[in-house]
Amino acid sequence: MLNVRSDFPVLNRTINGRPIVYLDSACMALKPIEVVQAMNEYYEKYPACGGRSIHTLGEEASNAYTASREKFARFLNATHTAECIWTRNATESLNMVASSLKLPKDAKIVTSTLEHHSGSLPFVERARRDGLRIEIVEAKSDGTFDIEDWKEVLDSSTCLVSIVHSSNVAGTVAPLEEIIEIAHDRGALVMSDDAQYAPHHPLDVQKLDVDFSAISAHKMCGPTGMGVLYGKLEHLEAMDMFLVGGDTVADVRYTNGKIVPEYLPPPEKFEAGLQNYAGAIGAGAAAEYLTRIGMNKIEKHERALLEVALKNLKDMDHVKIVGTDDINIKTGLVAFTLDCVEAAHDVAAFLNDQYSVMVRSGWHCVGPFHYQLGIRPTVGTARASFYLYNNFDDVERFLEGLRALIEATS
Ligand SMILES: Cc1ncc(COP(=O)(O)O)c(C=O)c1O
Repeated sequence: MLNVRSDFPVLNRTINGRPIVYLDSACMALKPIEVVQAMNEYYEKYPACGGRSIHTLGEEASNAYTASREKFARFLNATHTAECIWTRNATESLNMVASSLKLPKDAKIVTSTLEHHSGSLPFVERARRDGLRIEIVEAKSDGTFDIEDWKEVLDSSTCLVSIVHSSNVAGTVAPLEEIIEIAHDRGALVMSDDAQYAPHHPLDVQKLDVDFSAISAHKMCGPTGMGVLYGKLEHLEAMDMFLVGGDTVADVRYTNGKIVPEYLPPPEKFEAGLQNYAGAIGAGAAAEYLTRIGMNKIEKHERALLEVALKNLKDMDHVKIVGTDDINIKTGLVAFTLDCVEAAHDVAAFLNDQYSVMVRSGWHCVGPFHYQLGIRPTVGTARASFYLYNNFDDVERFLEGLRALIEATS
């Protein structure tokens, strides 16, 4: 097991006399001290604008910003540093592709019922905007996919697939390599939503041969309000502009009464205006931190915790696990319902108030899959998610709280 708890100052907190048990990392991961320090260093030593000012502070900010992008590119094994675009979050990364990728008039987009709303709605809206077709692959009720469904839906008119690599509800890892191969065979590009996958598994974008990937830095120990869009350089170069303005241009001429811009190549092409330099520096520090710990070790650590949680939950009356219980295709999270407590918020409130255990409750921004399972969004599911700083004691306290709740309500 990993032993990194001392890297996370917030774990020293006690609430109601007990050390906190944080099981909501699938929503927001805790931050190690070195990420906080990297950001503080920016604010304390060179809080200037990167990429423009030629003075010393500006140069230091530029260097740190560039170095951070390099760290992130290494984390993903991107071919070029320019393939990593800083965004506000995974949602913005998905919107960038949905809105700026050039698609023919008769294009078909394919997505699934398992997508986070951020992975489906940008594409639903793009289809509506341009009158494109969009087809939805239904996940199976355990949150896995039948590869035959993808083979059937992906045809030669398919231009783009948006698929969640690792589900934030079912926890299931999609057979992405296979889907990418089929999609490429049919001439389609694949956008992978890696918001949940990248923080918990080794992700090698070259090996996967994925075209675009959306990543959320705040779910991988980085600062809030930071994300990354990975894209193969050729696709990023071919895309339309997203936001335009300062920093995106090589030249803006005024000629014959017209303003004529000449845009920069990626990454500047997609990073308009002054950036979140501290955030990017923190995201780079987070990528470096996770790399140092080792993504294989993190994956193994979480699987060990998940295995204990699943085994015990399966043995409990009144608990229904959402998603497969096959840990080999599951990220370190488990969502569940209780037949003795209707609303998931009541489960989360009890665990928080009585046991200082923090889990997430609700529909996790995945309405279609909840509807597919017949779970009303207002009832929702409770979700415990594990990360590198959790341990077996955390799992035990979560299970203890759940047993007490079941005992009191059944
Ligand atoms: C699978 C998945 N995709 C996308 C998102 C959106 O991420 P962000 O908040 O970084 O936009 C989330 C957030 O929970 C998620 O779990």
